[in-house]
Amino acid sequence: MRALDDAEFDRWVRLLEARTGVIVPPERKPFLETGLRRRMRETGHTGFQTYYDELVKGARGAVEWASLVDHLTVHETHFFRHPPSLALIREEWLPRWLDAAGADASLHALSIGCSTGEEAFSLAMVVDAELSRSAPERRFGVTATDVSQAALAVARAGEYPMRRISEIPTAYRAQVEALDDGENFRICDRLRKRVGFACVNLLHASRAPLRKLDIIYCQNVLIYFARERRGEMLDALVELLQPNGLLVLGPGEAPGWSHPQMRRTGGPQTLAYLRNTKETQA
Ligand SMILES: C[S@@+](CC[C@H](N)C(=O)[O-])C[C@H]1O[C@@H](n2cnc3c(N)ncnc32)[C@H](O)[C@@H]1O
Repeated sequence: MRALDDAEFDRWVRLLEARTGVIVPPERKPFLETGLRRRMRETGHTGFQTYYDELVKGARGAVEWASLVDHLTVHETHFFRHPPSLALIREEWLPRWLDAAGADASLHALSIGCSTGEEAFSLAMVVDAELSRSAPERRFGVTATDVSQAALAVARAGEYPMRRISEIPTAYRAQVEALDDGENFRICDRLRKRVGFACVNLLHASRAPLRKLDIIYCQNVLIYFARERRGEMLDALVELLQPNGLLVLGPGEAPGWSHPQMRRTGGPQTLAYLRNTKETQA
């Protein structure tokens, strides 16, 4: 198969950006081309142009897109990937939420661009451990979303290679169990029941049937989006948050963004915002 020429590369970049928000800069052309070739080999396509034409046509194209998007997005992730953000939730935000929320309030969190589930399970481990210790009567749930069905299938299984257990601090390891094969571990049933996975495109998050959220955790996703688009995405997420709800981004991921309903919280190692209440509204 011949190489992807520049005009073709531009068309694929535009398609990916229109459908996912993700931009592929010229230096990432080999990544895009490798992903396309891998999927085209699987489906028996030999030309970029004919593959593109099929992809943008009709129901079959939509089904094929669902598979291709997995090859064109980056899924790297880890358990407890950004400890300062999780510490902010555990040490600052959760105690305040426990004081302020009504006795029967339950906590709902959203992990966006959750990839294979590690971020959502880390969040669930932290919240579960803290609530079990200080307010066992409180209930919580985590909804975790991604655009990649293949990544979500791994997340739903909740099974990971044993070598990755070192990413989980020892204090939380009781929440996973070794499998009989000796090579993998699984997130315990009790925790898996608290985490639901759904295929939601961040571009359409505001249309998803989500209840008002207490925490939105969105790290290492917006960095793949055009800067102009990040602000729009974040503005839409604000509308999903409860008053005093927490938005956690990755440091440096929202340069220049501010919102009249949001105020900064946490230290310099984190990038997090609280939604205003009537009292904190300036
Ligand atoms: C690098 S991973 C980040 C995983 C996790 N948030 C973390 O920080 O470890 C980026 C994820 O964003 C997902 N993604 C990319 N565009 C998306 C979109 N428009 N809507 C939802 N998820 C998207 C990808 O499929 C991928 O799984």
